[in-house]
Amino acid sequence: MLSFEEGSFSGSGGPRLGLTMGDQIAAGAHPVTGEVARAPAFRRVRVDDKRVINGDTDVNQLVPFKYRWAWDKYLASCANHWMPQEINMQRDIELWRRRDGLTEDERRLIKRNLGFFVTADSLAANNIVLGTYRHITAPECRQYLLRQAFEEAIHTHAYQYIVESLGLDEGEVFNAYHEIPSIRDKDEFLIPFIDALTNPAFTTGTPESDRQLLRSLIVFACLMEGLFFYVGFVQILALGRQNKMTGAAEQYQYILRDESMHCSFGIDLINQIKLENPQLWTAEFREEIKFLFRNAVELEYRYAEDTMPRGVLGLNAAMFKEYLRHIANRRAQQIGLDMLYPGAQNPFPWMSEMIDLKKERNFFETRVIEYQTGGVLSWE
Ligand SMILES: [Fe+2]
Ligand SMILES: [Fe+2]
Repeated sequence: MLSFEEGSFSGSGGPRLGLTMGDQIAAGAHPVTGEVARAPAFRRVRVDDKRVINGDTDVNQLVPFKYRWAWDKYLASCANHWMPQEINMQRDIELWRRRDGLTEDERRLIKRNLGFFVTADSLAANNIVLGTYRHITAPECRQYLLRQAFEEAIHTHAYQYIVESLGLDEGEVFNAYHEIPSIRDKDEFLIPFIDALTNPAFTTGTPESDRQLLRSLIVFACLMEGLFFYVGFVQILALGRQNKMTGAAEQYQYILRDESMHCSFGIDLINQIKLENPQLWTAEFREEIKFLFRNAVELEYRYAEDTMPRGVLGLNAAMFKEYLRHIANRRAQQIGLDMLYPGAQNPFPWMSEMIDLKKERNFFETRVIEYQTGGVLSWE
């Protein structure tokens, strides 16, 4: 039944414009144009009425803007567009095939690294498309999430492209999240938080369910995209810095840039929800979040130990313990929590240079001059 009470177009559970023609005619719609006469209660969207969750303004109206930070991140992400096939993998293929090209430890690291990532970005995409998107009532944020979802598809594509280029055993790599305990444990930590939002019966609107959404958003942005990806990013970028697997390293550099934007958007979203719903941020809830942070640091550290049992590329698991604590501190502070590990230092300061990638300035050897939609790329 179509109703024109204020706010009837949106709210948790999504917009209610999916009416059949029969519904529309019954509700007074013109039988040919489908145009519906507006009832007196109709009101245009006002900036002050918009909310990130539990909003009741029309989610189909992008403007007037309220959350300009979300729109700016959407524009910045579009400007960073890239595709995996733009990157030349020939040197990686030659190195991988050469018997003495890489050590056994380096090969193990690469396979376990891909073993996590080949399915992680699919989990991320599910979380956005089937979960987060429908609970967010700010259209600027939804616009960013649509872009983010596509980027997650590009990342899955990139990992598949590396696996295919190197001729790796697809069954082994794509099943690692079932078969390798250090990878499975990370995913088993994440999945309940994703399932909570993708459950079709889940809606926001009570303190418990709003807190459930916030908890899942924090796990997704701060612990999955913001922490669980970082051992893997450092490993492949460290290989690239030693002039090994430079094509894969360049793919990871673009992915790292995208992911740092996803993480930053997620943190802005979390902080906006906190601002609009301060009652959710109780002392008890903060303690619960800190507990999750500590768990995640431990799981990621175990993954580091498993992928580098003897130390490789000048990296070892102990350096990652410090690095993960440094990152966890930063993520905690970004959402308004105290540092969890005071004094932790960053042993990989070169990582910040990797995040600040400019398309025209390539760190590695494989170069794309510029992105051309629908055209052929030029190689230097
Ligand atoms: Fe991703
Ligand atoms: Fe992401």
